[in-house]
Amino acid sequence: MNRAWWKEAVVYQIYPRSFMDSNGDGIGDLNGIISKLDYLKLLGVDVIWLSPVYQSPNADNGYDISDYQAIMAEFGTMEDFDRLLSQAHGKGLKIVMDLVVNHSSDEHKWFVESRKSVNSPYRNYYIWRDGKNGGPPNNWGSWFGGSTWTRDGATGMYYLHLFSPKQPDLNWSSPALRDEIYRMMTWWCDKGIDGFRMDVISMISKPDILPDGPAENGAQYGDFTPYCIHGPHVHEYLREMNSRVLSHYDIMTVGETSGVTVEQARLYAGEDTHELNMVFQFEHVDVPGKYAGWRTNKISMPFLRAVFSKWQTGLNGKAWNSLFLGNHDQPRSVSQFGDDRPAFRVVSAKLLATWLHMMQGTPYIYQGEELGMTNCPFESLSEFRDIDSLNGYRTWVENGPLTHAQFWPFLLFKSRDNARTPMQWSARPNAGFTTGTPWIRVNPNYTEINAEAALADPNSIFYYYQKLIRLRKTYPVIVYGSYALLEKNDPNLCVYIRELAGEKLLVICNFSDKKQAYTLPEGFSGTQILITNLNRSAVDEPSLTLQPYEAVVLRRPV
Ligand code: NOJ
Repeated sequence: MNRAWWKEAVVYQIYPRSFMDSNGDGIGDLNGIISKLDYLKLLGVDVIWLSPVYQSPNADNGYDISDYQAIMAEFGTMEDFDRLLSQAHGKGLKIVMDLVVNHSSDEHKWFVESRKSVNSPYRNYYIWRDGKNGGPPNNWGSWFGGSTWTRDGATGMYYLHLFSPKQPDLNWSSPALRDEIYRMMTWWCDKGIDGFRMDVISMISKPDILPDGPAENGAQYGDFTPYCIHGPHVHEYLREMNSRVLSHYDIMTVGETSGVTVEQARLYAGEDTHELNMVFQFEHVDVPGKYAGWRTNKISMPFLRAVFSKWQTGLNGKAWNSLFLGNHDQPRSVSQFGDDRPAFRVVSAKLLATWLHMMQGTPYIYQGEELGMTNCPFESLSEFRDIDSLNGYRTWVENGPLTHAQFWPFLLFKSRDNARTPMQWSARPNAGFTTGTPWIRVNPNYTEINAEAALADPNSIFYYYQKLIRLRKTYPVIVYGSYALLEKNDPNLCVYIRELAGEKLLVICNFSDKKQAYTLPEGFSGTQILITNLNRSAVDEPSLTLQPYEAVVLRRPV
């Protein structure tokens, strides 16, 4: 496998709106991020992925861009951005930008022009169709609720939006549109940014004919994904993007590829396919259920283990994995995969970190994960800000079959706002995030869970992540080693081996809140403990009793 800096790196995702507010308006900003670069340096990460900071009317908190080459006023100015980039670089930190080019905002000048007339030079930048039988062109339902089509008064035609009506889909089959995108990307690369995280990039290619999608029994809308995910020209477009832009710079790219299979990922992120460096797969979080993505059940370890093991072995030597448990669209990882009860929060957060960071791939830390931040105990609907949560409520409660009481637990567990409450910096008011009124409520547990407290505690989750990152820089087997799963059917233990040129790591994780007995494979008794989340100082006996949520990594040199 080829070596690359982005394979050896650890990425930290910042959701700028909720990270740090420098001017007291209650909204995080670029100067806030600059003030926390030393914190990130101390943690040891190499790359910052910035969720969108571009000009946007904020229908979807920046995932609806109205100018790709301007900074959102609430976040600062282009001068602030340039300062952030140069200060980050000065500290050895790289900056990866979010690239949202499946759709723009309806307030982007391209769309403003496009909607005016069928003869507009920008008409073809978007996907317009005539209606059918007095309604939309087909039955597709958008991911944020309602139809994927909105009729526009000026011409009476419908435009496609796989997300909200304020996020019209760009038409990638237009060479002129693709030229604009590549020009814009080149402009950012020339500025010196270090890469792109590409929003729903697996959805950019749509077929010419857009047929009705399958609709579950009685469902009002059909599914667009069979036509729009991994559409007919997506790989062609990415190879073109690679040859026109990406290949000219030493940058990293990660594609958000919802619905991706191992086989598809080998194309998107193959060692020799000339598309992207890696992709995010979502099998461990997108668990199909009766109520679209809404659920209250945690993800079980056997499921998690099966998904990751498939990806670990499926991509080994062929393509590169990205490793994540949390991001701005997911519940907090300790609440979704670990155990956020007070007795187990710290130990289970460390367990998850060990389990994830010891696998092959580039690990991503979502802001606050290094503190063990949890889901938020929201108390009323008025506290939610997320378009997907509010639309979900409309779809399932106001216009749907569920009562408020039935839907509420879904919202509490799964709402994207859980990940978007302000970063908890200290026990001061508003968690030290802002001196003003925060745009979204602060999780009340900030008095206990915060960065200041973590930095003062040598046993904190923060320092545990720091150690994991240091180990990655010391032992190439963590980055490049092969993966083999042991104890495939154990209901509580996840155990795997990494190996590189004869050096072996044994990773043992007890995912349960009970003690578990375990017998080591041959050759590991008495070997070095690389890291452990409890106080174990040696493993001298072939069998051991693991404490609840204990994780141990043993190293056997060549
Ligand atoms: C995926 C992003 O992660 C999510 O936050 C956003 O709402 C959709 N793409 C639409 O851009």
